[in-house]
Amino acid sequence: MARSLETPLSVPFCDSPAAPAERARLLDDLRHHLATAWESFDRPRPSEPHVDAELVGRLGGALPELPGETRAALDDAVRVLEASVSPSRPLFLAYVGSTGLETGVLASALSAAYDANLATAAGAADLLDEQAVRWVAEFVGYPMAEGHFTSGGQTSNFTALLAAREQALPGAREQGVAGRRATVYCSDEAHHSVVRAVEAAGLGRRALRRIPTDGRRRMRADLLRAALVRDRAEGCTPVAVVATAGTTLTGAVDPLAAIADVCEREGVWLHVDGAYGLPAAATGTAAHLFTGLDRADSVTVDAHKWLGVQKSCSVVLLRRRGPLRAAFGHEERYMLHQEDTANPVDHTFEYSRPFRSLRLWLSLRVHGADRFRAWIERTLANAALLADEVRAHASFELLHEPMLSTVCFRHLVPGMSDAELDIHNERLAHAMQADGRVFLAPAVVDGRTCLRTCFVNFRTTPDAVQTVLEVADELGLALHPESGVTQAHL
Ligand SMILES: Cc1ncc(COP(=O)(O)O)c(C=O)c1O
Repeated sequence: MARSLETPLSVPFCDSPAAPAERARLLDDLRHHLATAWESFDRPRPSEPHVDAELVGRLGGALPELPGETRAALDDAVRVLEASVSPSRPLFLAYVGSTGLETGVLASALSAAYDANLATAAGAADLLDEQAVRWVAEFVGYPMAEGHFTSGGQTSNFTALLAAREQALPGAREQGVAGRRATVYCSDEAHHSVVRAVEAAGLGRRALRRIPTDGRRRMRADLLRAALVRDRAEGCTPVAVVATAGTTLTGAVDPLAAIADVCEREGVWLHVDGAYGLPAAATGTAAHLFTGLDRADSVTVDAHKWLGVQKSCSVVLLRRRGPLRAAFGHEERYMLHQEDTANPVDHTFEYSRPFRSLRLWLSLRVHGADRFRAWIERTLANAALLADEVRAHASFELLHEPMLSTVCFRHLVPGMSDAELDIHNERLAHAMQADGRVFLAPAVVDGRTCLRTCFVNFRTTPDAVQTVLEVADELGLALHPESGVTQAHL
């Protein structure tokens, strides 16, 4: 039986006479959905996202064979997004969120509409990519020679490690690393993406040396040096040292200058994982923590964290030109490209990729670097304010001195043992997520379960910060009404 290809009204094929009206209607719908989402950015969500049974049922449905109504599908898409965890609200303090700048939404919509082909030399889009990379480097104060946008901190760290691997073990791309004992160094507080990068680079997880941290949770440069010397003496080839500029758990910045000294002396590639923390290098308050950054061979910075744009958008920057091409350049060409055009995929792991730089580029164009600096300063001040409040409150304990914008603390209940406080704080974090006024995540610092907050959202105001402890105390007391401790400022 011949299948009917009659164009249903809801699918705006360009040859349909109804297409212009249909498109206009869809744009109206989209405008409405965007306006609703943007309004919700500025207020807390009433509760943890709840996926109702009807939606669960729909999402279990089979592949649709027949055309569906576009509006209904769009409505369902919005329902799904409404029922999903989203960081774009002032008191979303879990993980390392983002701000979800409106400029990023506009850029995402535009780039999806045009769908530039970045898997080949793409013309002006490549120039914009390069400009945005330069702007990021300038913003954080890194003297980069080349760089690339990637899908996230994980991929940026991986990209840098592959470049370092090819430098330390030339030919590893071709021959692999079998029989060669490679080593990689990071602190015991480094992000798990470093472990995964080492695994994916074929070095084997045993290649990773976790260097102990000092009292401020920063990698000990003296122990790093000792480990490098010992490994060399045993015939290993150090591939890279990964310093963290802003650890995920507490925001600690490793001593970059001391680590750079060690790396230079030992001739080892220094990568700085600044996925979370590096934007703070642009502020007057925190710049001093990043002294030595300019000596790193490569750095990671995520724009979808502290630079406010939507996921996913990360940048890997290199101080010298060459190692990216050595790691990713290739001769095989399935399609004929112009001989003299540089192909960006020769410098990065991905082929097809979204035009993610546009989100950051548009945001920097519209708001300007100075406003970004001020926004980041404000998030640092918010974290300092919360830490002060915690110190001053009898019902809370600060678990570390914040270096950047992460503050871990716990709610205290008189008479509870450490183990009971662990359980209490985990329950409290979940109670807060369900309550919805403040969304934070539980974490474990030095074996103690606590409430972890990370301030990267430019919409968070100092007034809102006051709410964090009020809500934590209120809900903590509700979990243990018999404790009788509440709102007890010293
Ligand atoms: C320090 C650090 N490095 C790397 C990552 C991984 O980043 P992404 O989730 O963008 O891949 C994170 C994520 O939080 C991080 O905090």
